[in-house]
Amino acid sequence: MTKKQRKILVTSALPYANGPIHLGHLVEYIQTDIWVRYQKMRGHVSYYVCADDAHGTPIMLRAQQDGITPEQLIEQISDQHQRDFADFSVDFDNYHSTHSSENKELAETIYLKLREAGHIDRRVISQAYDPEKEMFLPDRYIKGECPKCGADDQYGDNCEVCGATYDSTELKNPKSVVSGATPIEKDSEHFFFKLTDFDAMLKDWMKAGHLQPEVANKLEEWFEIGLNDWDISRDKPYFGFEIPDAPGKYFYVWLDAPMGYFASFKNLCEKTDGLEFDDYLTADSDAELYHFIGKDIIRFHGLFWPAVLAGSGFRTPTAIYAHGFLTVNGQKMSKSRGTFIMARTYLEHLDPEYLRYYFAGKLSSGIDDLDLSMDDFQARVNSDLVGKVVNIASRCAGFISKRFDGKLGAEVENSELITTMVKAGESIGLAYEGREYSRAMREIMSLADQVNQYIDDRKPWVVAKQEGADAELQAICTTGLNCFKILINYLKPVLPVMAEKSEIFLNIEPMTWNTVDQLLVEHPINKFKPLMTRVEEKHINAMIEDSKQTIQVAQQKTVSEVLAKNPIANEISFDDFAKIDLRVAKIIKAQHVEGADKLLQLTLDIGEERNVFAGIKSAYQPEELEGKLTVMVANLAPRKMRFGMSEGMVLAAGPGGDDLFVLHPDEGAKLGMRIK
Ligand code: MSP
Ligand code: ZN
Repeated sequence: MTKKQRKILVTSALPYANGPIHLGHLVEYIQTDIWVRYQKMRGHVSYYVCADDAHGTPIMLRAQQDGITPEQLIEQISDQHQRDFADFSVDFDNYHSTHSSENKELAETIYLKLREAGHIDRRVISQAYDPEKEMFLPDRYIKGECPKCGADDQYGDNCEVCGATYDSTELKNPKSVVSGATPIEKDSEHFFFKLTDFDAMLKDWMKAGHLQPEVANKLEEWFEIGLNDWDISRDKPYFGFEIPDAPGKYFYVWLDAPMGYFASFKNLCEKTDGLEFDDYLTADSDAELYHFIGKDIIRFHGLFWPAVLAGSGFRTPTAIYAHGFLTVNGQKMSKSRGTFIMARTYLEHLDPEYLRYYFAGKLSSGIDDLDLSMDDFQARVNSDLVGKVVNIASRCAGFISKRFDGKLGAEVENSELITTMVKAGESIGLAYEGREYSRAMREIMSLADQVNQYIDDRKPWVVAKQEGADAELQAICTTGLNCFKILINYLKPVLPVMAEKSEIFLNIEPMTWNTVDQLLVEHPINKFKPLMTRVEEKHINAMIEDSKQTIQVAQQKTVSEVLAKNPIANEISFDDFAKIDLRVAKIIKAQHVEGADKLLQLTLDIGEERNVFAGIKSAYQPEELEGKLTVMVANLAPRKMRFGMSEGMVLAAGPGGDDLFVLHPDEGAKLGMRIK
């Protein structure tokens, strides 16, 4: 059955150009790459474009820290990103940058169209400003005490201890993270995109089936709260594009970031004969446009982006496909546990196709988070890919080479099995199309089980020893290898490298979705070489150890840096100190707190029991702490926190980032003792 050839443009979110790619990112790039590879195998004209997201305050500051220009920084990072992607077989048709001439032109054109149509507003707003560094401060560059619960070292927009959200101006003792200075309030004129003009358009768009149901529900909530105009300008100093007719004002990074999708495609069109930008992106285009994104950036893609496109006369996306977040061993990726794994660190220890297969086995079309459990990873890859799929080829190939001069027989002997396998292609194809990869993998593995069952029943190793059974042996192995070919054909979007090795082994042209039913008979094949080795635990462990170290080196701060961020506090009297009752406490229980990113719940014994919430989750597995002694402030007034009452505080130290390390007393100090 031939279907209409589709024209498809696909994107993944543009990674920020201030840090390396990690396994969390790869969920998205691998998910998208599989989908595009599938579309290409089906013969649809498909382009997969991406770029680095190069603008914004963090990139500007990071370049300053490194003593280089932002242009130098983004070039270095772009090279790293592209190497990482290539090594995971993420096969972009083009990889560009938002800091490009194409994007500048697009951003300006789109902005001017919006302005002409009256969708841009200007008004003066007041914001936190760092008088020393002479720059406005985004919320995450201000830290201070939570106005609700008093917790120290909280970001300018929300408190991670009590969960309160607030304005950065409400923080007590606010400090600029950049310079340590106390921020002041300063007025400045900002440009706003009038999202409210698109209320009706967005409501229609939302209902027209471009979104997953969970995503549509999220948008619905935002509509209920009411749309706000969107602040699209930032004052200098900023790394980005200057706004036309507004010296010193720059487009906010999230305005020109999605335009980077189009800029990358434009750049591809410039390099490709016969490929026209307008064919894909004008309002009346018959091409399809898909954005794969993480669930954290739905607002930008589901609200702002379609409105900006509609307001400037472009087409809107055919669909936005959001996915969930990666956890490792059931928890948020953690630097100190070694589960914040960079793409490069993984590559130094393990085969990228293991991860592609594992993610495929976990991915569905929803936005649920997915877990990389290291044990499960090892077990699945070994049992499915090595134990089931590759095993079929290795059980049959040797006989064909040794006994039949490398030639397959004239026919297969179990055509029913082959027919079943070919028929399954329809459902497997639908699963790929619908991003139900885990279902596709299950169906493929169940076919592999049937093939192994067939080989177990027919026992070629026994037939091989029988007199006059040559034809039978050749037929069994020919059948087995044809089944193997079909399995690899189905797995090809997920395992392009293994597929290519198999094509060489089977001596065939690159497989497409149309090659599934092509039987290989009287066909010479090449000598079989192992296609994939088993995942070994020692390699996983080495990767985790390496991740701990890579991060420690990256995070190590000098004493003077720590001092600069946490200056020594004002002098207090001895009497002030004597008011604090510090006790040696035994941690009798430590557990996770549902829904808390940083907290562990501790049960402490100081002669009486205390319940304490401590922000130490990123550095510990709870079990490690149980039974240990620590020091607690025993007479701190109890505080009501989002998760319950906290009756004291444990002493812990950290550089001022995520990690806090609990202090333990020296031997001799016993439970309940007072510290003086
Ligand atoms: N620069 C923006 C996107 C701009 S798109 C016009 C951005 N960059 S990012 O580097 O932070 O993230 C890139 C993509 O990776 C996002 O879709 C994000 O959701 C995804 N992921 C980042 N960490 C992730 C996990 N831990 N798990 C799954 N996806 C994650 O956002
Ligand atoms: Zn708080």
